[in-house]
Amino acid sequence: MSEHVSDSAEWQSLQGHAEKFSAVHLRDLFGSDPGRGERLTAKVAGLTVDYSKNLVTDEVLSSLVALAERAGLRERIAAMFAGEHINVTEDRAVLHTALRLPRDATLVVDGQDIVAEVHEVLRRMGSFSDKVRSGEWTGHTGQRIKTVVNIGIGGSDLGPVMAYEALKAYKTPDIECRFISNIDPTDLYEKTHDLDPATTLFIIVSKTFGTQETLTNATEARNWLLASLKDDAAVAKHFVAVSTNAQRVADFGIDTANMFGFWDWVGGRYSLPSAVGLSVMVAIGREQFADMLAGYHAVDEHFRTEPLERNVPALLGLINVWYDTFLGAQSHAILPYSQYLHRFAAYLQQLTMESNGKSVRLDGSPVTFQTGEVYWGEPGTNGQHAFYQLIHQGTKLIPADFIGFARPNHDIGGMHDLFMSNFFAQTGALAFGRTLDQVEAEGTDPAVAPHRVMQGNHPTTTILADKLTPSILGQLIALYEHITFTEGTIWQINSFDQWGVELGKVMANQLAPKLTGSSAAADDDSSTNNLIKLYRAVRGR
Ligand code: F6P
Repeated sequence: MSEHVSDSAEWQSLQGHAEKFSAVHLRDLFGSDPGRGERLTAKVAGLTVDYSKNLVTDEVLSSLVALAERAGLRERIAAMFAGEHINVTEDRAVLHTALRLPRDATLVVDGQDIVAEVHEVLRRMGSFSDKVRSGEWTGHTGQRIKTVVNIGIGGSDLGPVMAYEALKAYKTPDIECRFISNIDPTDLYEKTHDLDPATTLFIIVSKTFGTQETLTNATEARNWLLASLKDDAAVAKHFVAVSTNAQRVADFGIDTANMFGFWDWVGGRYSLPSAVGLSVMVAIGREQFADMLAGYHAVDEHFRTEPLERNVPALLGLINVWYDTFLGAQSHAILPYSQYLHRFAAYLQQLTMESNGKSVRLDGSPVTFQTGEVYWGEPGTNGQHAFYQLIHQGTKLIPADFIGFARPNHDIGGMHDLFMSNFFAQTGALAFGRTLDQVEAEGTDPAVAPHRVMQGNHPTTTILADKLTPSILGQLIALYEHITFTEGTIWQINSFDQWGVELGKVMANQLAPKLTGSSAAADDDSSTNNLIKLYRAVRGR
C-alpha cells in the first residue's frame, strides 16, 4: 500500500472517471441496461437497498472497491471488531459493535471479558427498567414514576431522543420520556415546569460526567426536585446516572449503586446501544431493546463478513466518497418517509460529521481532498414542500437517501399508500427529470417551458424495509455507522476523536467568568471583547 491512499493508482483512476462523468446521465444508464434497478439492489438483514439511481457505472463501482482494497478496508474492519486501538489519538479500542454481541459470543480485549461485562450491564438495566415500568420502583413519596427525564448532550442525548421518537409505537403508555440537552435554561424550564417532582425520574447521562451543559442541567434539576420534596434522601430515588466515571458520579451525589456503566471504547456518538439507551429501554422494555441490539448485530455481521463488492455499508460509504471527494458534493440529504424518524437526520449529523469532520490523516499530515459531508434532512413529505425544489432544479450535487417502510405503524384509511407514492415518485423525478421535448409536447407556453424542464440526474439511494421496528432501527443505525467507518478509512482519518469540539468546551469555560463580571472582560480579540461588553451592559454588569 502506498503511504497515502490519495497517491495511489486506484485514486488516480477514479479521478479519471470523474473527469469524464459530466457526460453520464441516469437516463442513459437505465436506458442501456434494463436490469439495472434489480441488479444494483442489495439486501442487508431486513433492509433492501437500491443504489441503482446513483451516478455510478460498473467501472466506477469496481474502481471504488479497488480503492477500498488499497486503503486496507477489510483489514481495518477486522481490526475494529477485534478491539485493536484504532482510535490512535486517544489510544483506545473502538468497540461499539461489542455492545450488541449475543451473550454466547466471546471477545476478550486488553484482558477484559467484553461480552460478560456488556451483558452484566444489560442485565442491570433490564432489572431497573422492569421495576420502573411495573411501578415497583417508586419516587421518594411512594408514588410510581410517570416521567423519565434524560439529561445529556451530544451522544448522550441524540441517540436516546431519536430512538425514543422512532419507537413511540412500541412504548408503554404509562411513562413519558423527555430529553434535556441544551444549557439554555429554557430547555430545562419547558421540560420540567408542568411535571410533578414526586413522579419524575432523572437519568443523568454523561460518558465523562464532566460536560458543562449536563452537569449544570443536572444540578438545577436536583434543585428543582429538592425545592419540592425538601429531603436530600429523595435524590437516591429520583436520580440515576449513566457514565464511565464512577468517582464523578459519586461526587455529584448520585449513589453509584444507581449508576450504569459503560467503557472508554464506546464513543459518545456510538453509545445508544450501551446504558446510554436506558431511557429507551424504560420506554420500550428490555425485550424490544434486545430486538434493537439484534438488528444492529445483523448488520455488523454483514459488514464484518461480506466481500466488499457485496458489502452494502462499504458500497454506500464508497459511493459517498465518490460524490464528496471526486465529484465535489458538499452535502448529503437524509429523507425518511416516516414521521417517527424526525430526529434521524439530527442523529446522523453527529454520527457522521463529528466522526469525519477531520482535515488531517492518521499520520498527522493534512488531507489534500474533501472529507466529511454536511448531513441534513427532514422527513418526507414535509421536505417536499420546503427544500426539495433546490435538489430538483438547483445547481448543487446533493446525493439523497430515501428511507421508507412498506407497512405503516398506524394504518389510517389510504394514507400510507399516498405517502409512499410520494416516496417512489420523488426518486424517479430526481433521476429522470423532464426534458424540454416532454414539456413542449404538453403544449406549455414556450417562454415558460425552460423553467419546467428538470434536468434529472440527481442521485438517490432508496432504503426500503417492511416496517419500522426496534430491529429495523438498529439495522439502520448500524448501516450508517459502517458507512461512516468506510469513508473515514478511505480518507485515512481518525473517525473516533473530536478534538475540535473539545477546544470549544475549554474556551467556554474560560469565558464564563467574563460574562458574569467576576473577571475582566477585555483580554480576548477585539470582536469578542466588544460582544462581551455589549452583553454585560444589557445584563447590568
Ligand atoms: O460534543 C462533544 C462530545 O464530546 C460528544 O462526542 C459527546 O457525545 C458529548 O460531548 C457529550 O459528552 P459526555 O457524554 O461525556 O457528557
